[in-house]
Amino acid sequence: MLIMNKYEFGNDFIWGVATAAYQIEGAWNEDGKGESIWDRFTHTKSKNPFKERIYQNQNGDVACDHYHRYKEDLDLMKELSIPNYRFSLSWTRIFPDGKLTSKNQKGIDFYHRLIDACIERNITPNVTIYHWDLPQALEDNGGWTNRDTYLRFLDYVDFVTKEYNDKVPRWFILNEPFAFTVLGYFLGIHAPGRKGFANFYPAIHHVTLAQGDGGKIAKKNCPNAEIGTTFSCSYIEPVSKDGFWGILNQGAAIRFDALLNSLFIEPMLGMGYPVDRLPSLKTLEKYYKEGDEERMKFNADFIGIQNYTRELVQWSPFMPVIWGTIIEAKKRCEKTTEMGWEIYPEGIYHLLKKYASYPNVKKIYITENGAAFPDQLVEEDGKIRIHDIERINFLKSYLEQVLRAKKEGVPVYGYFIWTFIDNFEWAEGYRPRFGIVYVDYQTQKRYVKDSGYWYRDFLEGKDV
Ligand code: FCB
Repeated sequence: MLIMNKYEFGNDFIWGVATAAYQIEGAWNEDGKGESIWDRFTHTKSKNPFKERIYQNQNGDVACDHYHRYKEDLDLMKELSIPNYRFSLSWTRIFPDGKLTSKNQKGIDFYHRLIDACIERNITPNVTIYHWDLPQALEDNGGWTNRDTYLRFLDYVDFVTKEYNDKVPRWFILNEPFAFTVLGYFLGIHAPGRKGFANFYPAIHHVTLAQGDGGKIAKKNCPNAEIGTTFSCSYIEPVSKDGFWGILNQGAAIRFDALLNSLFIEPMLGMGYPVDRLPSLKTLEKYYKEGDEERMKFNADFIGIQNYTRELVQWSPFMPVIWGTIIEAKKRCEKTTEMGWEIYPEGIYHLLKKYASYPNVKKIYITENGAAFPDQLVEEDGKIRIHDIERINFLKSYLEQVLRAKKEGVPVYGYFIWTFIDNFEWAEGYRPRFGIVYVDYQTQKRYVKDSGYWYRDFLEGKDV
């Protein structure tokens, strides 16, 4: 396997790890925290007796107990020489019912302590404002399908960017708007469990407004910080390109690419929704109010892209709107990750090229990349070790492709591993382990995996 050195990426390249509040904090109802849609979703039994909502009915009530153990976790991060920590704020710790009037000082103080603890250890705090845990009180009013939620979000952005202002040099407005709207408001497999176009379309539009205006407010409040947002993306290819079916498959690939990879970035860049490639998106106009085109725009300092896999698609007459279907990796690949995702490092290269080709994308950070594998604990000389060589190979092969894009002029300036410690992987519960640090959920003990030591050596400038 290839040998790499961080200096090949340049001295101004930032390195880090990422997490999200609901996935690690626990303390779901402590110190005045309000209920979020993920609390409600995980606490509610599935109506379908054959299918649980969450793997083994697990939830994030305790998770990694990071709320109480953040200092030890940051000590470990420092031991591994990780210079940047990307984490998210839980809206309901700060405003338990989502509105300014419910302000909760204890929640506000927690994030001051967390940010200060990063700074004391020379770790730069990178803050995501919204990583999926909407206040349940807002969901009771329609959640993202209600335009009012976008206005409440702006109040929240305004407050946190003023409150933590100069301590945070880099802000991320949203985490993966496509993922949380499609999974939570169309397929119903994530919180809040809504389904269908009648929920999906208004949610898309209100989230797009939140992204645009939220970015502008953050920039106004923190002119010296970098303000951006993140997008999930998967490299899309047609299952075949030749002949009659190949042409139809190519059409499906274009539509999937528009939906998965362009839906939220293009309106931000002032290009509107990708209606030319996916005509049904014209329906979104139903939710427009005068002036919305301006509201959707935001001149971001950077974009964050989050990539895990590639999708192969095929034309299908049974899927209205998209007229295509994804061929599951499990059916076509010999080996996948624990999530059933294909390992396809070249995909990140193609995606970097795609995003760099948009006018006005000034800087790109990879804000999430990583993989879940079934880690095995072994005892060696009285010590617990986890030889997660597959994860090391995954990270190296993806980084190699990031470097390839960079050498070809793509303005990519940062990389965050998903994730620091194993955590609650949404509907998949605690089963998939993405961390470079292993968590024993019974004892809450942390064990650094070989990938964690590998990252440390890499960050310390060694050839690895
Ligand atoms: C991303 C999410 C993150 C985590 C990884 C595996 O889509 O942003 O919270 O679940 O996937």
